Amino acid sequence: MWLHSLSDWTEWVSGLHICVAILCLPSTMVEKFQAKADDILIATYPKAGTTWMIEIMDSIRQGGITKEITTIPSHERTPFLELSSMGTLPAGKSLYASDMPSPRLVKTHLPFQLVPQSFWDKGCKVIYVARNAKDILVSYFFFHKITPILPHAGTWDDFFESFLSGNVVWGSWFDHVTGWWDVREKHQILYVFYEDILQDPMREVERVARFLGHTLDNGTIQEIVKHTSFNMMKDNPMTNFSRMPTCIVDVRISPFMRKGQVGDWKNHFTVAQNQRFEEEYRRRMAKTSLRFRTEL
Ligand code: A3P
Repeated sequence: MWLHSLSDWTEWVSGLHICVAILCLPSTMVEKFQAKADDILIATYPKAGTTWMIEIMDSIRQGGITKEITTIPSHERTPFLELSSMGTLPAGKSLYASDMPSPRLVKTHLPFQLVPQSFWDKGCKVIYVARNAKDILVSYFFFHKITPILPHAGTWDDFFESFLSGNVVWGSWFDHVTGWWDVREKHQILYVFYEDILQDPMREVERVARFLGHTLDNGTIQEIVKHTSFNMMKDNPMTNFSRMPTCIVDVRISPFMRKGQVGDWKNHFTVAQNQRFEEEYRRRMAKTSLRFRTEL
């Protein structure tokens, strides 16, 4: 289902799970959100590497790994545009109270058409991270298990079908990635692939830095690449969600930083599921020039 407005989405989410609906901010409030010209938006479909990119962007704009980065959890540095999380995430409140110092780094999982108009009116820079659907599906399935605010995922087979039909909280992956792809040249949007960052982090960090208007020396880029590597982030309480309230994400069940690989889908898809997925994929992606890699 194509989501036309934020109220469509809120209604849709309430139908899926009342819990996450309660945590969503009222659609009128999000619609009226006043972006500032120097706000930077990080937009992703869930599980595309949002937390990874946040850490990269924050390190870039701070010129390296500062005290703020090593002492404040990532989710407190980056407010979530559409979720209030009932006051458990302090950054969300400051964003709407506009008492957050600029430049602000704002996170969203909204599809392009639901992003508040002021981001476009103010010409804000946006980084969109996309990841191949097969690995997202696996990662999203496991994420449901540690996230009490999300609907019950059901079995792997159930979730596989829900994902393919777009019957999940932020809607269809197909609509999301193609929607953002189609408008990337109309606004200041840098479209980045998870698989590219994994393959060549130096190149991608430099590309992001250039887009954000920062020139960093080689040593700083290396420092950022090291700080944002999977193993470092997995052990870092500021990035591994261990400081997140357990009513939102409970990493005691299993880690948020799970595998960080390309191709883990091969450990989960059956042959029949892969075939079914490929058919649906061909149908849904027939008209786009967007291409993903499912292995490196
Ligand atoms: P997996 O579940 O496949 O391991 P998001 O932040 O959008 O929720 O995405 C989470 C996914 O990104 C998880 O995928 C997580 O392990 C992966 N990820 C986070 N940081 C990463 C890093 N530094 N390198 C590679 N993958 C990373």
